[in-house]
Order: sequence, then C-alpha cells, then structure tokens
Amino acid sequence: MCGIVGYIGPRSVVPVLIDGLKKLEYRGYDSAGIAVIEQGKVLVAKSVGRLSKLEEKLEAYTPEANIGIGHTRWATHGRPSDVNSHPHTDCTGVIAVVHNGIIENYLELREWLEAQGHKFKSETDTEVLPHLVEHFYDGDLEKAVQQVITKIEGSYAMAVISKNEPDKIVAARKDSPLVVGLGDGEYFLASDIPATLAHTRDNFILNDGEIAVITADGVKITDAQGNKITKEVFHVQWDAVAAEKGGYPHFMLKEIYEQPRAIRETFSSRISADNKRVVLNELSLTEEEIKDLRHIFIVACGTAYHAGVVGKYVIEDLARIPVTVDIASEFRYRNPIIHPGDLVIVISQSGETADTLAALRESKKAGARILAVTNVVGSSVAREADDVLYTWAGPEIAVASTKAYSTQLIAMFLLGIHFAQVRGTIDAAYAERLITGMREIPDQVQTILDDLEDLQSFLKKYAECQNTFFLGRGLDYAVAMEGCLKLKEISYMHAEAYAAGELKHGTLALIVDDVPVVALATQTDLYDKMVSNIKEVKARGAQVIGVTFKGNTELQKVVDHVVYIPETENVLAPVLTVIPLQLLAYHIAVARGCDVDKPRNLAKSVTVE
Ligand code: F6R
Repeated sequence: MCGIVGYIGPRSVVPVLIDGLKKLEYRGYDSAGIAVIEQGKVLVAKSVGRLSKLEEKLEAYTPEANIGIGHTRWATHGRPSDVNSHPHTDCTGVIAVVHNGIIENYLELREWLEAQGHKFKSETDTEVLPHLVEHFYDGDLEKAVQQVITKIEGSYAMAVISKNEPDKIVAARKDSPLVVGLGDGEYFLASDIPATLAHTRDNFILNDGEIAVITADGVKITDAQGNKITKEVFHVQWDAVAAEKGGYPHFMLKEIYEQPRAIRETFSSRISADNKRVVLNELSLTEEEIKDLRHIFIVACGTAYHAGVVGKYVIEDLARIPVTVDIASEFRYRNPIIHPGDLVIVISQSGETADTLAALRESKKAGARILAVTNVVGSSVAREADDVLYTWAGPEIAVASTKAYSTQLIAMFLLGIHFAQVRGTIDAAYAERLITGMREIPDQVQTILDDLEDLQSFLKKYAECQNTFFLGRGLDYAVAMEGCLKLKEISYMHAEAYAAGELKHGTLALIVDDVPVVALATQTDLYDKMVSNIKEVKARGAQVIGVTFKGNTELQKVVDHVVYIPETENVLAPVLTVIPLQLLAYHIAVARGCDVDKPRNLAKSVTVE
C-alpha cells in the first residue's frame, strides 16, 4: 500500500510532488509527507490526515527546491500520526526515505541498529531504511542502497535522498510497483503511472531487484549488484484526462458510466467479425492443452474474487471443466492440491495485490500454468504469469471497483466460450448467440444507465437503513455478493449476500419489518424457486427491490419495486445485473454523506498481506 513520488529537474519541486501524490491517494490517505533538498539541507514536512493537511502545513513555508520525494500512507506498522508519516530520516537528518511495502525483519534490524547507537523516532518498519543507509554510507548513496537491500526482507518500493549527494534520487523495488517517468531534462518517480502522466507518457517500469539512480542528467538502471541494465521505454497510450474525473462528481460514478466503452474494448478484438468464434491469440495455451485441462483454479481477492465466482459458473457450465474458486489469502496457505498442468487463473485489477501475487507464485512452484486477468500492463501479476488476458478498462481510480469488475466478467465469458468451443462442449448456434449477446452488452449497459437516472430519489428512503440483504441463486448469487460488497465498502451500511435457498437455514431470523432486500431474479431455471424465496422474505415484512429482465410482468406482483435490465442470455446476465447494484451503492453512499471515492480504512491497491 502507500504511494510514493519523486522529482528532479528545473521546476519547483513541491507542487510537482503534491500533484503526483493527489493521483496516488487511492493507494492510501491516512497521512502524507515530502522531503526536499533546499540549499544543501534535507527539509521534511509531513502531516497525519489527508493530503490537504500537508498542503496547509506547507502554506506557512514552501521550500524552494528542485529535488524531492513524497509519500501518501496507508498505515501498517504504527498508527496514522505525524511521526509515523513518511519520509523517515536517519539519526542526523541527512538521509530521507519514502517506502511502500513491509520490511518483515524490521524488528531484528531495529534492535541491531539500536545496539549500535541509532535513535528511532517512529513505530514504523520503514524507519530502519534511513538508518541502514546511514550505516552503510561510505560516500556513495547508490552503493549504500545496494547494501541495504541485501539486509532487508519483505516488500518495498523506496526512494532515498541525501544532502551529501544533493543531485540524486536512488530508488529500488521488490514486490511493490515503481515507475520512472522520463521528461525532457526532468525525471519523475511514482508508484503508478497516473502520477507521472501530466508530465510524460514515457516511463521505465522497474522490475523486482532493480535500482534506479536518477539525476537531472538521466536515469541509470542497475540490478541489485550494480550491473547496468538497458530498459525499454514503456509508452502510455491513455492520457491524463482519462485519469481525471471528467465532470463527474466522483471517480466512481465516472467509472460506472465508462463501462459501455470499457466492456466493448475488452471484447472487441477478441471475437470474430462473423460472431462465430472467440479468438484469444494472446494466449499461448494450445488447443491440445485446453482439451487436456482437468482442473482450473481461479484465485483473487475482493471484487476480483467475485468475478471469479461468476467465472466458475460460466466455465463449468460452458466448458465442463471443474473450477475451484478461492480467495487468494486463503488459497496461499491452505496447501491446495495442484497438479502439473492445472490452470490457475489469477484475477487482479491492479496486478499488484500481495495475496494474489503470492498465490500465483505458490501455484507456479506446484507446476501450474498461470493465466493472469489484469487491468494493468506491466504489473507484477502480468509479468509473472505464463499468459495474460488484459481487461481494457483504463485506469480505475475510485477505491470501489466497478469497470474493472465488469471487464473481468467479460474476460470470464471470453475464456468460458473459448474453452467450450475448443472442447466442443457447446454447439455452434449457442456459441453464436453468446457472442452476439456479448456484442449487445455495451448498448444494454448504456440503456440501464439511461433508465436509472432517476434512481437517486427512489433510493433516498433506503439511506437511513442499518441492514440490507442481497439474494440470488446461481449466477444471481455471485452478483449479489458483489452488490453487497459495493454497498458495504462505500456506504458503511451492513449488508449480507445470501444464496436465496440457504436463507431459511438461519439468516431468515434477521428479516423483519422494513428490512430492505435486493432480490436478483434473472436465471430462468431458478426463477420459480427465487420467487418462492422472495415470498418468504415478504411474509416477514421485508421491502423487496427485485431485479429481472424487461418483459417479465410477474415479478412486480410479488416485490415492492422492480428494476428492469434488457434481456440477454442467462450466462451473460451478471454484467447487466451488477449495474443497478453499483448505482444503488453509489447513491446510498452519497445520500449518507460518505467519501465515495476514498472510503474509510481502505486503499485501492493492497500490496501488503
Ligand atoms: C472492492 C475492491 C477490492 C479489490 C481487491 C482486489 O471494490 O476494489 O475488493 O477488488 O482489493 O484488488 P485487485 O483486483 O487489484 O487485485
């Protein structure tokens, strides 16, 4: 977690650092800080709270400098406070360090450094870094950092400055992302590309174990031993505007409305013009290998896990391959039975989620073949997988995932249909109906967005509720899980998703007068059963919002309000059903006065366990 930035060049550094940090607040926002070198001195300013608190502090005195580093924090070791905020410094304030990740052996290192007289100020793991640099410094900052990384265990992206070498930033990474933006006579450092995009589209993406030495004259990349590495420039295709709000009050709403485009871009180059076949040329899996697949695991966290649950239903139903879907933090420690040749699909919007990455590595060790579904080109997950199926959602800034989820669903449909076509488990007519159905989805999503513009006023009455339930069967249950997570994370309203048939085994006890229940009823084979479950909650006084296909005139007779979605193949329904649930969560959160894009206690990219 946490975001780091750096700059060296002719501009005044403070505004550049602050602007960069604004783009990275999604990575954490409980405190922020900067360190710059002004007239041969390292100056540090930091503050607990949002970035605006740091800006207020800097109003009293804004250093004039051309080199600096900055940090926005999501606390792991040590509560959010001024003193625990980054940058951290060595004993004499000569060296300053910002860090993203966790130094796992920090206690041991701290004892060792303290025994040698180093004085610590904070409770953080990070503070061992400046003291280690101080310990190893012998007139060469780059060499000192090389030695530091032989001592530390865990994950890091770090940037180091020292008043002894006032024209240099030394940066290093392992298991936490870091990019160097290449300007004209100026260089930028950041945890993620949106922070450099206002200045340049050309970047070096650092790999694990690489060190960047950045001066105003250029960037030198080396391996951990100091051997020079030639890097290719990664040219970003999207522009800074794509990473801005574009007139919407929140990134989340903008990203919800971007879904027609994101979905279209994710499938359009992957289906044949005659709508007969899914073509996944980017996969190296051969037809023989697909036919031989005995078991697929899908592993992910949070919303991406919910896309995986849909993936399980879809792949099992279409391609008839058993699929086990797992939460990455459970999978990595449960000693899963993986056989060589099994396929492990990891799904991750950011491609940097620590548990997902660890699960990928465990699976690789066990001999599995890894297919990554991710939204971030060059991310760790993408680089370590055997194959990558990119979702083309564009940058997702809001903490609550929306367009990443819907494009992950498209990836699941593409894989399900592709595997089924290769294995011959669906006939040509059904494949064509599914592919044609997929082509229609962007317009159908747009229709839902247009039809639901008045949802806001209707939802107001639910904003005061304390408990909500989301029910569904089959694929509707998978989507209920996602709708429920969305509501909880941004509106702080308690919600539970339930497989509707399971309700009467305990949870029905919680259904009393006026409890809102969102009931998804799109799956034809399960429809009658679902209606019976709706009647069970209605009989206990629940207020039911039903979601079903247009043309269903029956559901309105049993629920209090119906939200209609355009008709599609049952298998494809999740990508439509989720849209009203995203809007429901969004409008309730706004009505409750919540910070929609930056919900409390959360961060966008979870690069720690
Ligand atoms: C919820 C949300 C999270 C992420 C999860 C995995 O809206 O965004 O649950 O889905 O942290 O993140 P990625 O997909 O980046 O691995």
